[in-house]
Amino acid sequence: MSSLKTVISGVGGYLPQTIMTNDELAKKVDTSDEWIQARTGIKQRHVAGEGEFTSHLATEAAQAALQDAGLSADDIDLIVVATTTPDLTFPSTATIVQEALGMTHGAAFDVQAVCSGFIYGVTVVDSMIKAGQAKHALLIGAETFSRILDWEDRTTCVLFGDGAGAFVLSAAGSDDNGKGKGVISSFIRSDGRHRDMLYVDGGPSRTQTVGHLRMLGNQVFRHAVTDISGAIQTCADNAGIDTTEIDWFVPHQANQRILAGVAKKLGVDADKVISTVASHANTSAASVPLAFMAAKNDGRIKRGDLIMLEAFGGGFTWGAALIGY
Ligand code: ACO
Repeated sequence: MSSLKTVISGVGGYLPQTIMTNDELAKKVDTSDEWIQARTGIKQRHVAGEGEFTSHLATEAAQAALQDAGLSADDIDLIVVATTTPDLTFPSTATIVQEALGMTHGAAFDVQAVCSGFIYGVTVVDSMIKAGQAKHALLIGAETFSRILDWEDRTTCVLFGDGAGAFVLSAAGSDDNGKGKGVISSFIRSDGRHRDMLYVDGGPSRTQTVGHLRMLGNQVFRHAVTDISGAIQTCADNAGIDTTEIDWFVPHQANQRILAGVAKKLGVDADKVISTVASHANTSAASVPLAFMAAKNDGRIKRGDLIMLEAFGGGFTWGAALIGY
């Protein structure tokens, strides 16, 4: 077994300046602030401006995470961007970020697991660091979901927002270096049978279009609560840790009722569940690092805390990662 561990050296995030409230949205589609808040907990979302792409959001988040880590792009040897809304079909958004950061060294690639992308990314980067393939990696979740929404479909367009969040993940020895235990365990799963419940109806090979997000929300909801709860339990069991020992749960921010449903199913204190649903809405692969950053910045998450990240998304994909910060 590798003696290396993967620690979080830095955390950063970026949200586009433009905020769209529920009331503003209600002028475009037949919905209301009351309905959106009661069914989802969402009050507002950030929306990328014209000419502002996923790579721009990702680069801002990466720079903030580097600053938090006290590192520069010269120190980074791997960039992984979790996104479902890349700037282009190719090259990867990660390579666009690489260039924006002025890097001509290292490797960069994208991971596509929709809303679970950041958890998949933690698993991939952790494996690469423990295999000695990277010393300091930037893992970025970045999305401009506003670009793949059908703004006439009230059942989906009210749920999402744009943003980016990033971790600098670094290799450390097994001795305590003051940066916590690092990634203790992670668990990822997928099941392609449920594609029709959550998908985008376009793509380069099938339609030569970008397409729009389609979702059977109430059916996705049921799967999400069951699968997320199972992933958290498996991840904790694999680490030999009881869920009551976990200081903070940082979930994918799809819906406040999903967060509450998972907490209830696992018997977790709702105050330990970080929520940014109200102000960020669902930013897909960006939501977990953005929520982490919010709780770190307001002083809730501290060095030494035991943290469970978790997500569920299109595919279906889902997973969890237990990290000592
Ligand atoms: N405003 C007003 N009414 C609405 C709206 C809206 N924006 N959207 C739907 N309605 C109506 C429906 O038409 C329906 O009306 P009817 O009863 O007359 O037919 C009624 O509200 C109830 O609709 P439901 O779909 O049953 O509402 P539900 O309580 O399930 O809430 C929601 C919908 C918010 C989408 C919820 O199901 C949800 O959050 N699902 C999970 C989403 C999720 O987890 N996604 C995960 C990942 S996303 C990703 O991977 C990309």
